[in-house]
Amino acid sequence: MNKPLNVAARQFRLREYPLNAVNSDTWQMTSDEPTDPLAGQLLVRNRWLSVDPGMRGWITPKRSYMPPVRPGEVMRAFGVAEVVHSNAEGFKPGDVVTGFTGVQTLGLVNAQMVRKVDLRYASAQQYLSGLGMTGYTAYFGLLDVGKPQSGQTVVVSAAAGAVGSVVCQIAKIKGCRVVGIAGGKEKTHYLKETLGLDAVIDYKAGAVGDALQAAAPQGIDVYFDNVGGDILDAVLMQINHHARIVVCGGISQYIDSEQVRGPANYLQLIAQSATMQGFTMRDYMNRVPEAFMALAGWQAKGEVRFREHVLQGIESFPQAFDMLFSGANQGKLLIQLESENA
Ligand SMILES: NC(=O)c1ccc[n+]([C@@H]2O[C@H](COP(=O)([O-])OP(=O)(O)OC[C@H]3O[C@@H](n4cnc5c(N)ncnc54)[C@H](OP(=O)(O)O)[C@@H]3O)[C@@H](O)[C@H]2O)c1
Repeated sequence: MNKPLNVAARQFRLREYPLNAVNSDTWQMTSDEPTDPLAGQLLVRNRWLSVDPGMRGWITPKRSYMPPVRPGEVMRAFGVAEVVHSNAEGFKPGDVVTGFTGVQTLGLVNAQMVRKVDLRYASAQQYLSGLGMTGYTAYFGLLDVGKPQSGQTVVVSAAAGAVGSVVCQIAKIKGCRVVGIAGGKEKTHYLKETLGLDAVIDYKAGAVGDALQAAAPQGIDVYFDNVGGDILDAVLMQINHHARIVVCGGISQYIDSEQVRGPANYLQLIAQSATMQGFTMRDYMNRVPEAFMALAGWQAKGEVRFREHVLQGIESFPQAFDMLFSGANQGKLLIQLESENA
């Protein structure tokens, strides 16, 4: 029996599955007293939470790469947390862990769902952004699935976002012509002036197809797709022979799970002997150290930068979630819980 903490835990639970856009009935904020961990569990205090588009899939009761969160459960989220009490071998109070720590200030987690991290090698927020799953997704998706060659043209959608911005920078390091597609002037300016992309397209300002012809005059060899929908269709019409389409995400199709639209122009895959391949980071968990070393090395040399958009406090979670779908986030969206946990 551990000494009582005398502090309430706060958490967001899934109230009900949303039919389309997440709304005020989707989440329920609750509070309870933390309990002692059972065998194999840890009681952790969250420091940082990652807010990800993939969360929309976790609250959709359909077949996916992991089971959906059930109504009443604490919402699933990646986080960085400190172990308060441990009932699992290999973990002790004070250890810092990352993994599925949930949208909660304090709570129980299954020790198998987290791994220890060392804050001497990266900050807590970097373990959730460029030096964590976000960066690894960009690294393996582009290099293993996209296989870009120097001189080829790489197009990236949601290019100013967490994954997209890292993909763009790795493609530049690999000597590619890089075209970023994003929404609005601030993001396209960031991509062109700060990240040095060769061309940018504001998809909210006009037709992507015409703009792509100008931005990728030699055609498209690799398309790193984060959005699906109309942008994917526009890209398909301009792919080169043996092009590779990396299906990382399809955020334009996440809101209404009953009306997901596939690519109308998929016959271009035949015409161009092209491939379209999906992936998740689950495929690459045994190669995480490789991605970490590469990304940390590029960051140390100033060749990649990670932009983070930080909100404060657990109550900002619903607002943060909505920002991903309106495009209001500028970089990796994180929630800092440090102050309320002090
Ligand atoms: N396969 C994997 O293992 C894996 C892992 C992580 C993430 N992902 C996927 O990667 C994608 C990017 O995730 P992230 O974490 O880096 O998020 P993010 O790009 O930082 O944020 C999402 C961005 O998507 C754009 N967006 C939203 N609705 C859109 C729409 N209807 N059409 C076009 N763009 C839209 C917005 O940017 P604009 O302002 O530019 O519209 C928004 O800022 C998501 O699809 C996510 O599901 C996949």
